[in-house]
Amino acid sequence: MKGQAIMALFRFNILILIKRSNAISPLMQLLTTLRFFGTGAFYTVEGDLHDVSVPSVCRIVHRVANSLARLTDRHIRFPVDIQDVMKTKQGFFDKAGFPGVVGAIDCTHVRLYGAPLGDDEPLHVNRKGYHSINVQAVCNASFKMTNVAARWPGSTHDSAVLHGSLLGEMFENGRLQGTLIGDTGYALRPWLMTPVAEPTTNAERRYNRSHRRTRVTIEQVFGQLKCKFPCLSLGLRVAPRRACQIIKACCVLHNIAKELREPEIEGELREDEGNDDIPYDGHIQDGTIQRNRIINAYF
Ligand SMILES: *[C@@H]1O[C@H](CO)[C@@H](O)[C@H](O)[C@H]1NC(C)=O
Ligand SMILES: *[C@@H]1O[C@H](CO)[C@@H](O)[C@H](O)[C@H]1NC(C)=O
Repeated sequence: MKGQAIMALFRFNILILIKRSNAISPLMQLLTTLRFFGTGAFYTVEGDLHDVSVPSVCRIVHRVANSLARLTDRHIRFPVDIQDVMKTKQGFFDKAGFPGVVGAIDCTHVRLYGAPLGDDEPLHVNRKGYHSINVQAVCNASFKMTNVAARWPGSTHDSAVLHGSLLGEMFENGRLQGTLIGDTGYALRPWLMTPVAEPTTNAERRYNRSHRRTRVTIEQVFGQLKCKFPCLSLGLRVAPRRACQIIKACCVLHNIAKELREPEIEGELREDEGNDDIPYDGHIQDGTIQRNRIINAYF
């Protein structure tokens, strides 16, 4: 993040959340942390700070990451009131003509390395064979994150992350309205539309195209996030619980950067970070009627 954005973080009162430590001012701690998020290495940060050891840099980063992560509910909000829901649907409709969309959903892996994982080690091995956290996120049409779940070990399938998350539960029991857009890794639900696997009609093909153009938003958000915060694409050399706090902190900063209209450097995800897209093969598939209704009415 650039100087202007850092200055603007004052407006969000972030500095008052950070306590002084070993005579290192809150501003210096924030800058140290941003530098770590931007490089992914504790020792490159150490070079900037005279007389501060790597362990204290780690402590600073974790303390500041925790403070930022605590702002998740303030800066990452799912649209619930009618105005916000309508605005969100309109945003997606303007993009690719898909009706009723309240969010694009996907997961991305953040690599963990070098940290002791103990008995949970096998749980963290993802299908590409490395240790990770599988991070679920939902965004809106202006690339803001509206929901993040960063607590699942890398072996968890995308559909299981959704199933276990509060967001999934709220859609399930009707407390959230509207449609999520997800890839074939998810079950087709009345509230989550997936692509038609083998489209046979022109309407189905148009549906598929619109679906893809809507869904790509979340992939772009992951690209922007990992480009802004290379620590997430390089991998985190910390314990899983701490990694999750750092991930949430970066997501909060991503949204703050959007609020400040920071320009994006578009980043492509590396092959091994992309979403799994292992097709969902569970038994729940109760969204066919709803999908056909959308295809017939809009495409
Ligand atoms: C995306 O969400 C943010 C707040 O969470 C809101 O300010 C913005 O207007 C939304 N954009 C669209 C297109 O829905
Ligand atoms: C529709 O989407 C599925 C899944 O993404 C894809 O396999 C298929 O090729 C798509 N078909 C068309 C015509 O876009």
